[in-house]
Order: sequence, then structure tokens, then C-alpha cells
Amino acid sequence: MKIIRAKDYKDMSRKAANIISAQVIMKPACVLGLATGGTPVGTYAQLIDWYNKGDLDFSEVTTVNLDEYRGLPRTHEQSYWYFMQKNLFEHVNVRPDHIHVPDGSNPDAEAACREYDQIIRDVGGIDLQLLGIGIDGHIGFNEPGEAFELGTHCVDLTESTIEANKRFFDGNEALVPRQAYTMGIKTIMQARKVLMVANGANKAEIIKKAFFGPVTPELPASILQMHPDFILVGDEEALSLV
Ligand code: PGA
Repeated sequence: MKIIRAKDYKDMSRKAANIISAQVIMKPACVLGLATGGTPVGTYAQLIDWYNKGDLDFSEVTTVNLDEYRGLPRTHEQSYWYFMQKNLFEHVNVRPDHIHVPDGSNPDAEAACREYDQIIRDVGGIDLQLLGIGIDGHIGFNEPGEAFELGTHCVDLTESTIEANKRFFDGNEALVPRQAYTMGIKTIMQARKVLMVANGANKAEIIKKAFFGPVTPELPASILQMHPDFILVGDEEALSLV
């Protein structure tokens, strides 16, 4: 595990974007595992900036996103597909047929998840997986108590996650989907490199517990201690207790 300290959110975003950028330069036809949430937005903005300056080329890159709400079509403004279009894909030259997000509109959870695992296998596995961390220690939508050995699967979101996400649904908890399709911990652990971004004082406690405490399914991110190439880029506040 490697911890990289950043001054603030902007610095964290630049450092994380540098690592992703290095991956794309070293292997132009790489597979990037991408994440939604507030934390990676600055990282994507930095990548877009470097793309606009001619320093980055995504034409051979394949992307696989971590998760998607079950029941939201791609056109829904809160779907993770839509988030990725707005925050990255529309602004760079990733080929549309190289973009993969679990199919939230497929009500058949088993089929949707099986198909997604097949896609990840077909593209040759993930070279670099970008992750945020939930305040309860979730990664993707793998909530506390989730088995470590799962591939893509359907999960019930915890109250804490629903509460944290309602800000994206006009603050109305009733509108937040109750389930999601997510890569499992096994899928994430099979990525050749894992890059986590974390910022803000509200992440400090969970960062300390996840990476300086026992590895336990009760804290899904803790398994990353065992990953052979795990990098955590955090700002001063998020790393204030470690
Ligand atoms: P955030 O979400 O980046 O919006 O804090 C992180 C997560 O829940 O994985």
C-alpha cells in the first residue's frame, strides 16, 4: 500500500490524474475502471484539461464503471452512466463502444451482473481501478458485511448510503433507488492497480480504520491492504489521522 499526501482537493485531483495519465501513456489500449461520486470529479476535470492540451489520448482506452443504480435508465440524470458522460466521456475521445457501465435498466439482476463480469473478462481485466470510499467504508456499492469473494452482483443499499446520496435526488430520500449493481470485491481486487481518492475531514476516521485496522468484511475497503498495487491519494484532512 502506498499513501500519497496531497495538500488539498485540487492537489489530490492532480496527483490522481497524473497516475491515470501515466497508465494511459504507458498502455494506450488499457482498461480503466472508473468511479462516480463527488471525489473523482476533480480528477476527471484534470484529465479533460490535459486531453484538451493534447497531452492525453483516450482513443484506445476501454472503460468499465464500478456500479449503477438498479432501475435507472441511462438517460436518467442521476444514473451513473449519465454522470460519466457529463463528467468525462463527453469531453474526451473515448470510443462510445469502449464504454461499459452495468445495465441498470435490466431488471434481471442475475443476467445483468453475469453479462458485466463477462465484459470485464472479454476486455482482459482492469489495468487501473479508480475508487472513492464511503463514510461506512464501502467501495463501489459493496456495503459493510458484503462477502469478499463476489463478482458483479445486486446489492441493497444501506440507510447510510441512501442518506449520503439523497443530495443528488433533490434531498428526497424516497427518490433514491434502493438497489444497485456493483462490481464485487473480488472484481476490484483482480484489478492490476487500484487507485483510491479521498478528501475531507469526514473521511479521516474511516481511512484510519480501513488501512490501519483489521481486514474485515465489516469494512469493505480494508481488503485493499492485501492488494499488491494499491495507492491511496488523500488530502491533508482525509489523512489527518494516519
Ligand atoms: P463521494 O462518494 O466521493 O461522493 O464521497 C464516495 C463513495 O461513496 O464511494
